[in-house]
Amino acid sequence: MKVLLLGSGGRESALAYKIKQSSKITELKVYPGNGGFSKSEIIPKNFFDLKNKNSTVQFIQKEKFDLVIVGPEEPLVDGIADWLEEVKIPCFGPSKYCAQLEGSKDFAKQLMKEFSIPTAQYETFNTLQLAKDYCMTHSLPIVVKADGLAAGKGVTVCETLEIANSFLDEIFIDQKFGQDPKVVIEEFLVGEEASIFAISDGEKFIILPALQDHKRAYENDLGPNTGGMGAYSPAPIATKKILEQVKKEIFEKMILGLKEKGYPYKGLLYAGLMIQNDYAKVIEFNCRFGDPETQALMLLIEDDLLQILFESANGNLQKKEILIKEGFAAVVVLAALGYPNVYTKNIPIELNSSPSVQIFHAGTQLNSENQIVSSGGRVLGLSCQDKDLKSALDSIYDYLNANPVQNTFYRKDIGKKAL
Ligand code: AMP
Ligand code: GLY
Repeated sequence: MKVLLLGSGGRESALAYKIKQSSKITELKVYPGNGGFSKSEIIPKNFFDLKNKNSTVQFIQKEKFDLVIVGPEEPLVDGIADWLEEVKIPCFGPSKYCAQLEGSKDFAKQLMKEFSIPTAQYETFNTLQLAKDYCMTHSLPIVVKADGLAAGKGVTVCETLEIANSFLDEIFIDQKFGQDPKVVIEEFLVGEEASIFAISDGEKFIILPALQDHKRAYENDLGPNTGGMGAYSPAPIATKKILEQVKKEIFEKMILGLKEKGYPYKGLLYAGLMIQNDYAKVIEFNCRFGDPETQALMLLIEDDLLQILFESANGNLQKKEILIKEGFAAVVVLAALGYPNVYTKNIPIELNSSPSVQIFHAGTQLNSENQIVSSGGRVLGLSCQDKDLKSALDSIYDYLNANPVQNTFYRKDIGKKAL
């Protein structure tokens, strides 16, 4: 199989690591990639324009890829799976219609309501005054979500009315998240967060081990929200009972519901959950693998993932379950100082390899002098799999202690809740 992997983060580095273990792979190319990929693997940015249908499809046809794996959400929300379906090239990732589960919070909430999927109570507004009135008459904290893709910045948990009103002003008056704004305002859910991914072929699906991400920048869940500072799997909070409930009341309802509507969901469906009293409700859906979660998950999968992704893209998953290794896996993100706000760039990355710790490149690039330097906020993911979570985390933290990188930071409490 000649495979094209789209994306440039730690998620794509981890997917590439796993896919390369498959006996089915003949060639892997990545676009646009990062500093962890070899020059021969990377397709230069000027070869095609991912925002343009004709440019993208022509390039992929010309190169005769057998499978396209889409890492990030944006190309999916733009419709790349539909573009490739038209020319019969298998694509791992949902259609434009289904990708709205991530692309529009209102769309996701409407479907959850229609299919009776457990989630927070909500209301959608497209005018400022009605949105403010709603906040005034509902209890605090209240959660305000800008409708479209917002790179993790579109949600504010509002402890006070002032916070809610000022975030609504940013959405409606400053139009920070685009023109014709819309907001979902929802009930604040109490509990512990976890995420569960399912790989679907439009009808059947396979559940992957539950994960826990760490969204805040600093230890003890303090500081600003980020894309995720670390993760571990399996998350013990997702008990057998939870896994069964999530399968029946969330994935089955969503995947069969979409199929009945005539929009089968192919690809990865990410359910962000709030768990309380051994019951899970959906906080959000994403239409792709999570990052950094995937950097831990890939170390736990025993099966041939490439084969499973290919079957999902072709609508014919053969297995009901995926083979998973014993034990746990974790990832700790090494971020540039300042992240998630203005952060240091061009930090030289010189690393010793490690027998136990897998180093996944995220925000890195090769500069004109052929040195690897940082280019993004989340620079690297350090991952490890071991018989227990403590051993996995100890290996990662021992490595980070022994190999300090200037102008970076990382959270020292990843996975602490599960130890
Ligand atoms: P989202 O982008 O929807 O994942 O939201 C970002 C973060 O906001 C989540 O990871 C939660 O920590 C928090 N959040 C979102 N919705 C709710 C809710 N209804 N209740 C409590 N916390 C929420
Ligand atoms: N780590 C959260 C996400 O991928 O959405």
